[in-house]
Order: sequence, then structure tokens, then C-alpha cells
Amino acid sequence: MSDQELMSLALDARKRSYCPYSHFAVGAALLAADGRIYTGCNIENAAYGPSNCAERTAFFKAVSEGERTFAAIAIAGGAFGCEPDSYTAPCGVCRQVMREFCADDFRILCGKSPEDYREYTLGELLPESFGPDDLSAVTD
Ligand code: THU
Repeated sequence: MSDQELMSLALDARKRSYCPYSHFAVGAALLAADGRIYTGCNIENAAYGPSNCAERTAFFKAVSEGERTFAAIAIAGGAFGCEPDSYTAPCGVCRQVMREFCADDFRILCGKSPEDYREYTLGELLPESFGPDDLSAVTD
């Protein structure tokens, strides 16, 4: 699975976004270490609070299917009905969800198209983070 293919899957998933309140459609495609792909879109709610980001949809689908090890995620977002015109980066809550399952070298691709994306690592987007290891003193 190339980065370009992963970004294409994120753009496909974006078409399934349910975003009647923000009108901001996001898609994600999560690549597991075993090569499986889990896609997600943002799913909003009339009560606003229960809304879920595309990235967390993809992660929760994957973890609920037994995946625990991940290599990369592609993300594409922008106004509903339009092609993305900026590089949507994951929100803070989604970065923390990634931190639960991914190391600092987990790759995050934020794209406008399969050919036009910016690449980061989780360590870059969530430095000095708090994760499962920080609880080892009390859980071991
Ligand atoms: N959103 C995502 O799904 N992922 C992001 O990385 C940024 C924001 C969603 C949440 C909400 O449904 C809409 O975009 C506007 O914030």
C-alpha cells in the first residue's frame, strides 16, 4: 500500500462523511502493521458533543476488530462538496487516541489529493506526551 493509495482511500471515505452541522467533511484511512486498512469519516450529532472525528472512527473500528499495531494514517478534510483546499491535521483528542496505540514514529499524512500531502510523525504532532507507559508505575 503506497502513501498515494492510502490517501485515495481517505478521500473515498470522506465521501461518506455525515456532517450536516459543520459542513466540514473529513475522511481517514488507517494502515495497520499487518497491511489491513480501516477507513473512517466524521459522524456528527444534533447534540454536537457525541460527534466523532474521522480519525477516531478509523481507530475504533480497527481496535474493535482486534488491531493494536499501526503504521500510518492518511487524513483529508475540507468543505463538504468541495475538494480539500488545505491540509487538515488531526485534532488534539485524536492525537491522544493515536498515542494510546502508536509510537512516536507513527506516520500521519495530511492531504489535499493523492499527490499533494504533508507528512508528519506522531512525535512531531504530540511532543512530550502522556501515554500508557506513564502509568506503568501504578499498574505494574
Ligand atoms: N474533524 C475530523 O473529523 N477530523 C479532524 O482532523 C478535524 C475535525 C471533524 C469534526 C467535525 O465533525 C468537523 O470536522 C468540524 O470540526
